[in-house]
Amino acid sequence: MENIWLNEAFRGEVPDFHGHVGWACPSNIALVKYWGKKGKQLPQNPSISFTLSECRSETFVTFEKADRFGFSFSFEGKENPAFGAKIEKFLLENQAFFPFINQLNLKVESRNTFPHSSGIASSASSMSAFVMCLLDLERSLSLSKGQPLDINSQKASYFSRLASGSAARSVFPAMALWGKTEVYEGSSDEYAVSLENDIHPVFKTYHDSILIVSGETKSVSSRAGHALMEGNPYAPARYAQANENIVNLLSALKSGDLDTFINITESEALQLHALMMCSNPSFILMKPNTLRIIEEVRNFRNETHIPLCFTLDAGPNVHLLYPESEAEKVEHFIKDNLAAYCVDNKWIADHVGDGPKKLLQ
Ligand code: PMV
Repeated sequence: MENIWLNEAFRGEVPDFHGHVGWACPSNIALVKYWGKKGKQLPQNPSISFTLSECRSETFVTFEKADRFGFSFSFEGKENPAFGAKIEKFLLENQAFFPFINQLNLKVESRNTFPHSSGIASSASSMSAFVMCLLDLERSLSLSKGQPLDINSQKASYFSRLASGSAARSVFPAMALWGKTEVYEGSSDEYAVSLENDIHPVFKTYHDSILIVSGETKSVSSRAGHALMEGNPYAPARYAQANENIVNLLSALKSGDLDTFINITESEALQLHALMMCSNPSFILMKPNTLRIIEEVRNFRNETHIPLCFTLDAGPNVHLLYPESEAEKVEHFIKDNLAAYCVDNKWIADHVGDGPKKLLQ
């Protein structure tokens, strides 16, 4: 892959050039989790996610011709050196693919549609939104030279992955698979692929109600978490199990088998947290209210047979997944039984979405 993108890199003199580009990219929630990496930001096992809609990053890049690479970054109107440094590092590490940056001054402005105190990780949405802007900028440059180059979603996924692993899955509508599996042709460790045309229509109607149990930032970064998998005695069993879950989930997604979907999704969430609990040092990211919600969800499902299930990210907040046909009943249940476990009784009502959107024409 690298060679293709290297060969088509825009080289030579940047014309007198200025303008701006803007993209919105959604967050995504993994069903089969990516936890453990190898090589240059490659996953130890394949993962599958829903692309969300309401939780997104909106990023704008203003560019102008300059003598050398210039860069500034602000988040929600304020300078954010830590995050800016991450983007700058990504650009410098990948300048062979984007040599034109050395003749541009880039001003990057980003914001999230979800509150920062929500504990929702924004690296997937913000890094993929930035990569979409970069590829759009490259496209404008190629247009100005009369060599039009469309934005390629495989390339967008490849570079989003280099910026932040799970960001690879945020550039596709509905659902994405990232990581090589024998059972899905075209799958790769280097980029994600769209599952949009391989899923039963029910999954395109899925809601994700994100119950905010704590707005605190995570006590373990995902980078540290991935690294801890290296010494984890359960790692080989985990990777084998994830591969098996991929096979079975892909087939359940195709047929619309909600029982298997629920079984795998909940098991994956609990495995992710179990892995953290048995790493050295260990981490417990669930809070008492996380467990209370899980218990209530399981009781509700047993009593009503409504196919509501949960998943967790690397934090205490609970993502409730259910099809549109059950939305009214589930939302009553959330209001009446679960809101009390949430910070300020609040949750974020999200749903499966269409992927990246261009913000400026
Ligand atoms: O993309 P990273 O390095 O922040 O890792 C994401 C890890 C999880 O969110 C816990 C799981 C996943 O597959 O998204």
